[in-house]
Amino acid sequence: MDNIRSVKGTKDLLPHDTIHWREVENIIHQFMAVHGYGEIRTPVFEDTKLFHRGIGKDTDIVSKEMYSWTDQGGDNLTLRPELTAPVVRAYIQHQMGTLRPLNRLYYIDSLFRRERPQKGRQREFHQFGIEAIGSPHPEQDAEVITMAYKIYETFGIKGLSVKINSIGSAEIREPYLATLRDALNSVKSALCNTCQNRIDKNALRLFDCKNPACQEILDKNAPFIFDHITDNDRSHFGRVTAILDEMGIPYDHDRKLVRGLDYYTHTTFEITSSTLGAQDALCGGGRYDKLVEELGGKSTPAVGFAAGMERLFIAFGDDGEHEHSLADIYFLTLGEKATQKGFVLAEEIREKHGVSVVSETLQRSMKAQMREANRLGVQFVVILGDNELEKGIAVVKNMDSSEQEEIPLDKLSDHFMVDGQE
Ligand code: HAM
Repeated sequence: MDNIRSVKGTKDLLPHDTIHWREVENIIHQFMAVHGYGEIRTPVFEDTKLFHRGIGKDTDIVSKEMYSWTDQGGDNLTLRPELTAPVVRAYIQHQMGTLRPLNRLYYIDSLFRRERPQKGRQREFHQFGIEAIGSPHPEQDAEVITMAYKIYETFGIKGLSVKINSIGSAEIREPYLATLRDALNSVKSALCNTCQNRIDKNALRLFDCKNPACQEILDKNAPFIFDHITDNDRSHFGRVTAILDEMGIPYDHDRKLVRGLDYYTHTTFEITSSTLGAQDALCGGGRYDKLVEELGGKSTPAVGFAAGMERLFIAFGDDGEHEHSLADIYFLTLGEKATQKGFVLAEEIREKHGVSVVSETLQRSMKAQMREANRLGVQFVVILGDNELEKGIAVVKNMDSSEQEEIPLDKLSDHFMVDGQE
C-alpha cells in the first residue's frame, strides 16, 4: 500500500522546529504587547463571499488560489487566504468600534493559497500581522511601518529594504484607471490574455502580471498612480515619510508599488530582504480605508501589514534542522524496581523545580539510554540501577563537565539547579 504523505505545498513542524517557532512566536507576542496590540484569532474557514468582496474577484488570490468548497449544507466556504478581511469581519460582527475608537489587533496564524510551491512559497503558510482599525491619520501608517521594520531589526535580519508608495484615496481610482486604459489601448494586443481581460475589468491588477513582456510594456507606457493622487493624498504621504525619517527608518519611494489586493487606498508598503532569493518579500501592507464599509460596517479607516513566518525563518538562515535541548534531565534506570522508583523521583523533581525530566519507558540498555540522553541534549543524567537503589543513592552525571557524583535518594529532588531555574 502507498504511504500517505503530506499534501504538496504543506509542511510538518516536528519538535525540533516547534521549539524554534515558539521562541520566535514568544518574541512576536512580547513585541506586540509592548506596542499595545491585542491578539485576535479568527476561524480557519469563512463564507467565500468575504474574500470575493474583501480582496477582490480579479485578484490572483481570489481568481486562482483559493481553496473553496460547498459543504453538505450547501454553504460556500473558503480556507482563509489572508487575514485582513477575516479580522475586519470580526471587528464589524463584534462591534469593536463601539468599544474604543482605535482597535490595535495582531495575529499569528495559518493561511492557504494554491500557489506553485517553491522556497518561501507554500500552499499552507503562516503570517504574523497587525491591523490598526480606526485612525485615518498618517501617524498610524507610520506606526505600522515602523513596527514592521523594527521587528525585523529585533530579529537581526540583514539586507532589509522598505519600499513605500501611495495609491491615493478611492476617489482618484476611476479617473486614473481611465488614463491607464487610454495609455495602453494602442499596445493592448501585445499584452497576455489575462492582462487584456484585466484592462477593462480591473486595470490596476495589470501590475500583478508576472510575464516579463507585459511588465516591459507597462514600464514603457503605464502612468504611475502616484502622479494622479490629490494634494491631500500627497500631504498624507509626505507626513508618513516625515515620521519615518524622524524615526530613522530607511525607505525607497517605489512608484510602481500597488500591491495585489483590491482593498488598498493611500499608503502601500513592502519590506524585502536580500537574503531571501526569488520570493524576497518579508512582509507587505498598507492602508485600507474602504474595507470596513465594503464588508457592511460603518465607514472606518484602517491600516496594517502581514509578514510570512516561513520567510522569516529563511531570512534567519536556518530553515533546516535546529539543535535545541528537548529536556533538562534524563532519568536513566536499569531494572524494574529502579525504574519504578525513578518514576516517582522524576515526578518529584518536575514538581519542585518545574524542569523537564524524561523517564525511560523502553527498558533499554545503559548505552542506548545514554545515546537517547545525548539526542535530547540534556544537562544531567540521573543513573539509577538496582545496585544504586540498594545503596539508597543515584549517580548524577553532568553532561557538560562529564563529572559524576553520588546523591542520596532523599536529597535528589533538592539537588537540581538547572540553568535559569530555581
Ligand atoms: P500579502 O502580500 O499577500 O499581504 O502577504 C503578506 C506576506 O505573506 C508576504 O509578504 C509573504 O511574506 C507572505 N506570503 C504570502 N504568500 C505566501 C506563500 N504562499 N507562502 C509563504 N509566504 C507567503 C496580505 O496577506 C495582506 N493581508 C497584508 C495586509 C495586512 N495588508 C493590510 N493588512
